[in-house]
Amino acid sequence: MSDILKDIIIKKITDRGKITFAEFMDMALYYPGLGYYQKENPFGVTGSFYTSVNASETFGFSIARSNLNIIRQFDLQPNLCEMGAGSGLLANDILNYYRDNEPEFYDIVKYTIIEKSEYLINNQKEVLKNHVGKVEWVSFDEFSNFEGVFFSNELVDAFPVHRIINISGDLKEIYVIYKDDKFQFYPDLFSTDQISDYLNRLKIKLVDKQIADINLDATKWIRTLGEKIKKGIVVTIDYGWPAEKLYAPFRMDGTVTCYFKHKQNNDFFERIGDQDITAFVDFSGLMEYGKDVGLEVVNFLPQTLYLVQSGILDYIANAKTDLQRAAIKSLIIPEGGFGTNFNVLIQSKNLNVPDSFIHKKSPTETFVQLAKAYEKLNIESI
Ligand SMILES: C[S@@+](CC[C@H](N)C(=O)[O-])C[C@H]1O[C@@H](n2cnc3c(N)ncnc32)[C@H](O)[C@@H]1O
Repeated sequence: MSDILKDIIIKKITDRGKITFAEFMDMALYYPGLGYYQKENPFGVTGSFYTSVNASETFGFSIARSNLNIIRQFDLQPNLCEMGAGSGLLANDILNYYRDNEPEFYDIVKYTIIEKSEYLINNQKEVLKNHVGKVEWVSFDEFSNFEGVFFSNELVDAFPVHRIINISGDLKEIYVIYKDDKFQFYPDLFSTDQISDYLNRLKIKLVDKQIADINLDATKWIRTLGEKIKKGIVVTIDYGWPAEKLYAPFRMDGTVTCYFKHKQNNDFFERIGDQDITAFVDFSGLMEYGKDVGLEVVNFLPQTLYLVQSGILDYIANAKTDLQRAAIKSLIIPEGGFGTNFNVLIQSKNLNVPDSFIHKKSPTETFVQLAKAYEKLNIESI
């Protein structure tokens, strides 16, 4: 554990009496030089977790195809913006796809990355060294007036969340205090009215002793993003559910959890700065607050279907080894792997999206396509 970071957090708590869980999570993940995302590479074999990006390059190839399709269908400027680019591998897979398969588009595409971690920006520059001149890094503040496709994978789950609990009918926020030489949870009044606004707007009701994680940063993010987009499509890929499923009474403990060396744990106060902390995304929040800034919901669908619609089945058919095929399958089988809990929200701004749009295809049609592909390839049925 980073004792320096632990001491900084203890000092903040001592000065203030208590801090919100969101403040704790923000420091643990993003404190300059010490937070989890600000040092060492958190991804892949040597890190704490894998994302779909690590599973197979075909994830990036499929997103590349989808994004190009969108640019062409809506006659948008050839701009792509990825926020929270992590290792930079997704950007690399996408740009490799264009270079090798769509050279004319590769020549004109402008790829922008918005990344919070200085450490990761440097990593991304190294990973993307074959695409020099194609990529530019800007801060979210600088980013504006965008036309094109804006997308992210596992960005919103890495935003800090407020935790609340229903104690015998009283809703309280769960703070972090430091007492008896240890971090402890402490319920008190909400730190901001925005939490009540969120609960009211999304009609979230908690049963007694139920804990819920409220991602206020996600609402701020989508509102700001909507204002920065002039015309285009926003694709948000992440694990999570609409509010009615996320805050259902069977989920009593919320969804915040930690990952350390590929093992999940709920020891929030251990290994501070050395382990990931993350929570499921409430996609209803993104849909609702997005509407305030002209972001219209085009579709909300499982990652499996989004990838099938984007052409991932072509790669299963052409996989050279069983290992490659298994990696692609892990992205799309509905049970297990990245097919479970992962969903995609597609929103549009200032566009007329026809029913023929590829990501508006009916789920049944896409599932039939998936089932046929499995049958044809004689892989186990879904
Ligand atoms: C869980 S990782 C996902 C990385 C990558 N997209 C992937 O799928 O492998 C979250 C990423 O979002 C970045 N991030 C988190 N909050 C951010 C913010 N407010 N602005 C920009 N990047 C952010 C993190 O630094 C990290 O790169």
